Amino acid sequence: MRKVYMTILILILVLSMVLLVAGCGARHGSEQGDDVTVSGDNVQVGDEQQSGEGDDPLIEGEEPPVSGDGEDEPLPPEDEMVEPPAGTDTPTVQTTVWPGDLNDDPDAPSKGDDRSAKGIPDVIETRVADDGDLLVLVNKYYTVSMDYEPTDMVTIDNKYGTYTDMEMKADAYEAYKKLYDAAKAEGFDLKLCSTMRSYNTQKTLYNNSLANRGRETTNVRSAYPGRSEHHTGLALDVTSANMGWGLSQEFINYPDGQWINDHCHEYGFIVRYPKGKTDITGYAYEPWHLRYVGIDVATYIMANDLTLEEYLGKVPPQ
Ligand code: DAL
Ligand code: ZN
Repeated sequence: MRKVYMTILILILVLSMVLLVAGCGARHGSEQGDDVTVSGDNVQVGDEQQSGEGDDPLIEGEEPPVSGDGEDEPLPPEDEMVEPPAGTDTPTVQTTVWPGDLNDDPDAPSKGDDRSAKGIPDVIETRVADDGDLLVLVNKYYTVSMDYEPTDMVTIDNKYGTYTDMEMKADAYEAYKKLYDAAKAEGFDLKLCSTMRSYNTQKTLYNNSLANRGRETTNVRSAYPGRSEHHTGLALDVTSANMGWGLSQEFINYPDGQWINDHCHEYGFIVRYPKGKTDITGYAYEPWHLRYVGIDVATYIMANDLTLEEYLGKVPPQ
């Protein structure tokens, strides 16, 4: 009897353990099932199939999949690291010991000539690319290369020019249109007779000047190619009927020329070659030649009777 009692007791114990284990398993499964939701309500499975993107919807509570085995990738040894491609940081300014612009031009005077006396001294810097600097300095010492190409150029409406399809920088053009309208409101009819000039155009003008006016006058009137700021697309020459649509220092003695001198800064322009500053700019007075620098700088320069060289602290050697 006692044997039977013990057997029943053992059976009860075994049965209880089996029921306990089965119950835990069932409970864990139901919790997991209750909590499962697909994240991203706006993701339609149908859409995914149509689009073929095939992203697996994430299940809340799960970590997003990691690539590889999930451990941090070790860095390659230093000598196997890849260098950035050459030319990524191409400088836009080259410091030139011997004038690169002259060397590139087969027509340039030879090294043995006294080029300084010819108005073409050795350069300090040559810009080879336009980095968008509105205050780019171009003169007899700070030059641009033969193939320098200003960026953001636009062809201006023919009504503004004495000839067709003239080009300049977009910012300068927007400013000039405002200046033109304001001048028109005062009764002045202005036209541009020169805007952007390439190296070769400047070379033709320079050589014509040499032939027609001689070396001495050319030195203070016409820039050697690569040294004219017209090459930047930021310079423009303004004329009017009073000037016979040409250029003359007499411009300042007419109301339209005087108005330009007094108001150009309000539109971001300076008179680039002021009277009495030839020693600094290298050129005689040009009341017609405007240079775009932006309103703030233009206002400061004109109010203080400065040249761009003085403003930038780059007055050339005397
Ligand atoms: N007349 C100015 C200096 C030029 O030739 O750019
Ligand atoms: Zn000019």
